[in-house]
Amino acid sequence: MRHFLRMTDLERGEARRLFARAAQLKRRRREGHLEDSLAGKTVVLLMEKASTRTRLSFAAAAFQLGGHAIELTASTSQIARGEPLSDTARVVSSYSDAVVMRTTADARLEEFVRWSSVPVINGLTDGGHPVQVLTDLFTVEEALGAVSGRRIAFVGDGSGNMARSFLEAAPLFDFTFQLGAPPQFRPPPAEAQAAGRHLVVTGDPREAVAGADVVVTDVWTSMGQEAEAAARLKAFQGFTVDAALLAGARAGAVVLHCLPAHRGEEISAEVLEGPQSRIFEEAENRMHVQKALLEHVILGGVQDVIEA
Ligand code: CP
Ligand code: NVA
Repeated sequence: MRHFLRMTDLERGEARRLFARAAQLKRRRREGHLEDSLAGKTVVLLMEKASTRTRLSFAAAAFQLGGHAIELTASTSQIARGEPLSDTARVVSSYSDAVVMRTTADARLEEFVRWSSVPVINGLTDGGHPVQVLTDLFTVEEALGAVSGRRIAFVGDGSGNMARSFLEAAPLFDFTFQLGAPPQFRPPPAEAQAAGRHLVVTGDPREAVAGADVVVTDVWTSMGQEAEAAARLKAFQGFTVDAALLAGARAGAVVLHCLPAHRGEEISAEVLEGPQSRIFEEAENRMHVQKALLEHVILGGVQDVIEA
């Protein structure tokens, strides 16, 4: 079964073909073509944390490919009343062709996978947000061409799910990940080690963005960390991606943020709305990239790009 739980669940060649298919699906939608590759297929979106983009982009993706999506939230299902995940997984997967799960601990996602009879896609965990990072790299390639050999700076919470999925992607997509994060907010050492020469870490955000082709940030307090919000606000002072910081990146560098954003904290309103921002294309691209990903996991591989 082809799950997509982490970046390395895609091989390099698969990722290339997936981006080509996503670009084709994006173009075809603009041209008004209707698709039916997922006709009769059902995708369940199992959401144990809040979401705007992930649930809508996957639901729209399934529908626009001729399939259907059903959303199940923890709070409105028997999950909140203590039904074991092993039971939920067996039942939910028996109705569906793929499950997108957003949850807390990665171990909980793994537990679901163990009992699922259909492919599972990680829709965000505490340890990673691979569908977002896949989309971010697609968005970089749209803006700048091949990501291979580029420098991607990430400023802020280096211990969070976004930074960790970028780090995992760096060797696979062959870019240098320039991480600017306070010492207490760094990725787990084993993950840093796995990235090898593809990772450069500094506590100075200016050093992180120096010469970067792409500047990325994410919230300082992720879902589930609300009790630490005040301490994090203090720890990340000086790590705001603002015009002064961005000026140190390469001319023409693009800015990404997975959203939701906190203007004036991790990113200034000026940069978020500015000419180097690709943030709203990035959000739209979630749907196009996830269409190709749904085809990959449900149909047994990325669909070939064949033009009529
Ligand atoms: N970026 C992202 O995953 O957004 P949501 O939390 O709204 O799904
Ligand atoms: N790091 C953020 C990403 C939200 C899409 C969080 O986990 O809350």
